[in-house]
Amino acid sequence: MYNTKIVGLGHYVPELAVTNDDLAKILDTSDEWIHSRTGIRNRYIAVEETSYELAAKAGLKAIEDSGLTPMDIDMIVVATFSSEYAMPSVACLVQKEIGAKKAMCFDVNAACSGFVYGLDVADQFVKTGKYSNALVIGSEKLSQILDWEDRGTCVLFGDGAGAVVLQRTEDDGIIETINYAIGEDFDCLYAKNKVNKTPYYEGSDEHALLMNGQEVFQFACTKVPAVIKEILAKNNLTTEDIDVFVLHQANARIINKIAKRMKVDVNKFYMNMDKYGNTSAASIPIALSELEAQGLLKGKKVVVAGFGGGLTYGCSLIQF
Ligand code: ACO
Repeated sequence: MYNTKIVGLGHYVPELAVTNDDLAKILDTSDEWIHSRTGIRNRYIAVEETSYELAAKAGLKAIEDSGLTPMDIDMIVVATFSSEYAMPSVACLVQKEIGAKKAMCFDVNAACSGFVYGLDVADQFVKTGKYSNALVIGSEKLSQILDWEDRGTCVLFGDGAGAVVLQRTEDDGIIETINYAIGEDFDCLYAKNKVNKTPYYEGSDEHALLMNGQEVFQFACTKVPAVIKEILAKNNLTTEDIDVFVLHQANARIINKIAKRMKVDVNKFYMNMDKYGNTSAASIPIALSELEAQGLLKGKKVVVAGFGGGLTYGCSLIQF
């Protein structure tokens, strides 16, 4: 078995910035309500770009950052649940955009945990030696699946993409990843596809994201500390050994509560949801890419953790 390290990072958000005050002009809401409950002040909305174009732009930046070329990439995994296409996969469309012609391509749908799931899958292919270089992208165009008349959900999310390049190495890198799902609680958070009417059964236009916010809050604040505790114990580490915690950027109150439960200084938890809102599968790689750009990843031990629709959750312990 080999090891896997992250050798390139990149992110991309579309141009249109929409502040809470902008939303207050079209909805019965306010900056005060949104910010005090979530920490969010702004999000970006992709007007022209598709979800695969967001993914391709982030992916190309990560490849450039790694010093590789698209032809060096053996596999592309895209974590997403908001593509315009049921098929092909976003990963195939990314391949077309960036010219990574040798890559095997597929998507992973684990909602907001999608990046951690995708990382886990790609890591296995690299660790066994089957592939040398893998591109893992989290990309969402959530604006196109929201109900813009439901102020309880549409204010929470944003569009964007983040990506990492994984490479086979002899050094430490991705030390371990643990992922779980609780399918029986799926109805706390879900988004249905449209179903065509047929001669045999009725169709359905139900397509918006639906959420029971308080149940999701409880789920995240219970399961995320538990899975982080598990990964640290398995590796004989404590929270003291971790330099940065990068959690899915759903909500600042969730992260504050998790920090408190884990008895860790909240300043060790990176937060950027004020700028981007909740970008689901994209939020962790966007945060990692920002940390790298600030020179805050090199030599650091990092825990990333996702939680979201499924319900899914998981975390990864990474030595940069
Ligand atoms: N602006 C103003 N008022 C609003 C808004 C809004 N955007 N949205 C809802 N309200 C109102 C409601 O209508 C309700 O009014 P009422 O009391 O007169 O009926 C009141 O605010 C409270 O509504 P709740 O839905 O109970 O709001 P809550 O305090 O639970 O906050 C929130 C909602 C922020 C989503 C909270 O439940 C939470 O933090 N949940 C965590 C889950 C989360 O962050 N999910 C994000 C996506 S999931 C994921 O990424 C895994």
